[in-house]
Amino acid sequence: MASYYYYHFLLFVLVATATISEADSKTKLSKDFYSRSCPKLLPIVKDEVIKAINKETRMGASLLRLHFHDCFVNGCDASILLDNTKNFIGEKTAAANNNSARGFDVIDDIKTKVEKACPRTVACADILALAARDSVVYLGGPSWEVGLGRRDSTTASRAAANNSIPAPFFSLTTLKSNFANHGLSVEDLVALSGGHTIGLARCVQFRAHIYNDSNIDASFAKSLRSKCPRKGNDAVLAPLELQTPTHFDNLYYKNLLVKRGLLHSDQELLNGGSTSALVKKFAANKNEFFKAFSKGMVKMSSIKPLTGKKGQIRIHCRKVN
Ligand code: HEM
Ligand SMILES: *[C@@H]1O[C@H](CO)[C@@H](O)[C@H](O)[C@H]1NC(C)=O
Ligand SMILES: *[C@@H]1O[C@H](CO)[C@@H](O)[C@H](O)[C@H]1NC(C)=O
Ligand SMILES: *[C@@H]1O[C@H](CO)[C@@H](O)[C@H](O)[C@H]1NC(C)=O
Repeated sequence: MASYYYYHFLLFVLVATATISEADSKTKLSKDFYSRSCPKLLPIVKDEVIKAINKETRMGASLLRLHFHDCFVNGCDASILLDNTKNFIGEKTAAANNNSARGFDVIDDIKTKVEKACPRTVACADILALAARDSVVYLGGPSWEVGLGRRDSTTASRAAANNSIPAPFFSLTTLKSNFANHGLSVEDLVALSGGHTIGLARCVQFRAHIYNDSNIDASFAKSLRSKCPRKGNDAVLAPLELQTPTHFDNLYYKNLLVKRGLLHSDQELLNGGSTSALVKKFAANKNEFFKAFSKGMVKMSSIKPLTGKKGQIRIHCRKVN
């Protein structure tokens, strides 16, 4: 009898502790984290992001995606930036990233500037979060407050990246469960997919959609088939949102309504279920999209950060100190 109560007490303590530490990790990030230790951080990152986008407009999209692919693999801990070592194969050659993830040099340049201003102080993971926000703002999208105080991982995992980043051939059901696994809602899924209002995708990623799917506008499919053959030209690029792929707006959703989503996973959002209502809402009202996107970004940016004494502040983003 005594051990029965002891067992339940122990269980209570364990559950209570888990709940508290989960709540802690959600509130630990703070927008003022570096206000004393690195007051120039925000302007440095913003200036460098603007310079990089002025040099190549696509870079804004690439930086947004880099943060997403970081956060979806064991949390926003800059693991995506690590090069291979003898101890692990990094995430850069994972299925979703190989020949695809870009912007690493820009992050290195930002980190060099930041190290000069405030040595050994600012995490690469925080730089990724700020660069994503500054990119969206510069391309005409919404702004949000970026909580800071993440720390950088000391390891990376290609297997985890393969298993955690959603793929363009996913069904709506799989997309929903993938986002749920990261603590993100169906509304977050639809709103964050709106990141595809900017940037480009390779033929190899949209080939199945333009040849095999039926929920695609015929003339849209035809024009894409002329650039992306059944075999070969895997790397040929097309804009994820046809009209203004360097401007952050809500045309992505308007295109979905007329079956002009580039990826299978994009068009899945308009399959008649609850996500269709969200697509229609965001197509009709840019402000609703911007509000939901900002909210989703704050949630995504807060996935399992390393804080306190966990991890480290990497001096070079590509390698462990
Ligand atoms: C919902 C599941 C998602 C899937 C299946 C998906 C899939 C993809 C694929 C296949 C590409 C093209 C990559 C290539 O061809 O090399 C891409 C590009 C991109 N994705 Fe996603 N994505 C998803 C969600 C997101 C989210 C949540 C964001 C950000 C909030 C995002 C932002 C981007 C951006 C900006 C690009 C263009 C990058 C560039 O031009 O360099 N995606 N995505
Ligand atoms: C990554 O891409 C390179 C260049 O196309 C290729 O040689 C390599 O096999 C790819 N790696 C993986 C793990 O797919
Ligand atoms: C991950 O994906 C890459 C590229 O498709 C593949 O080469 C590798 O075997 C996969 N698995 C692991 C555990 O890295
Ligand atoms: C289209 O579907 C067929 C039959 O299922 C399959 O063999 C083919 O590989 C698919 N094509 C693409 C581009 O995915």
